[in-house]
Amino acid sequence: MEKKFRDYEQGDAIAAVRENYRKMRVNQTYEYVQRMRKKYLTYDKPHDLWDAMRSLNDLIDVSDPDLDLPNVQHLIQSAEAIRADDRPDWMQLVGLIHDLGKAMYMWGCDEDGTSQDEQWGTVGDVYIVGCKLPDTCVYPEFNALNADMQNPQYNTELGVYAEGCGIDNTYLAWGHDEYFYQVLNNHPENKLPEPAMIMIRYHSFYPWHTGNSYQLLTTTKDDQYKEWIKDFNRYDLYTKSQKVYELDEVMDYYRPIAEKYLGTGPIYF
Ligand SMILES: [Fe+2]
Ligand SMILES: [Fe+2]
Repeated sequence: MEKKFRDYEQGDAIAAVRENYRKMRVNQTYEYVQRMRKKYLTYDKPHDLWDAMRSLNDLIDVSDPDLDLPNVQHLIQSAEAIRADDRPDWMQLVGLIHDLGKAMYMWGCDEDGTSQDEQWGTVGDVYIVGCKLPDTCVYPEFNALNADMQNPQYNTELGVYAEGCGIDNTYLAWGHDEYFYQVLNNHPENKLPEPAMIMIRYHSFYPWHTGNSYQLLTTTKDDQYKEWIKDFNRYDLYTKSQKVYELDEVMDYYRPIAEKYLGTGPIYF
């Protein structure tokens, strides 16, 4: 039987996946996102890129019905697939690092959903906070549990935003995508091209890039973003296999690429 990806109805891990999404929908409000941005976007924790990668040896993403390997394996699998297709070096690097924001668990806590045990503030498909939750969210039946959906300021199609403001000017649910995007944005040696940064920032934004929601908020610029994301997402999704790599084995190949785009010093999380 052909493997089906992103099946949220059946499989061994479904109860945990569903519970992560329920908690995420309950807790990720506009106010929560502002609080997390203040708390985590401090750029005061220096980490060597490879040590951050290694930290994901200890993290299994509970939101992912397709993967029960440590997250670092998923990163290597993505990168290797992009490399096998002869895509640009910066895109191979995106494959390797796109989920590094999950390293947040090292300084996160249960209360914020940013620990190893509680991951609803780190992983899972994200949505825009401050406006109506669309039915294209996974498990849309949980949308009603979000307190913002009772607040007239936040529960309309536009919510707190202006029509056509573009997704760069909205707030997404807090998680590893936005976190790592901001960390890299703040990294003085970062030379990654714009498509790379967009792939990192919006790869979990399924209700928009796959569900085509938020038409009132997006602009033509976002259509370009969507092409980049879709190009990347095939590798994020369809490369999940049981093949296990050693980080040290692939490092020799990726290190010069990482140094070309991110320099040699630590990255401040
Ligand atoms: Fe991700
Ligand atoms: Fe990923």
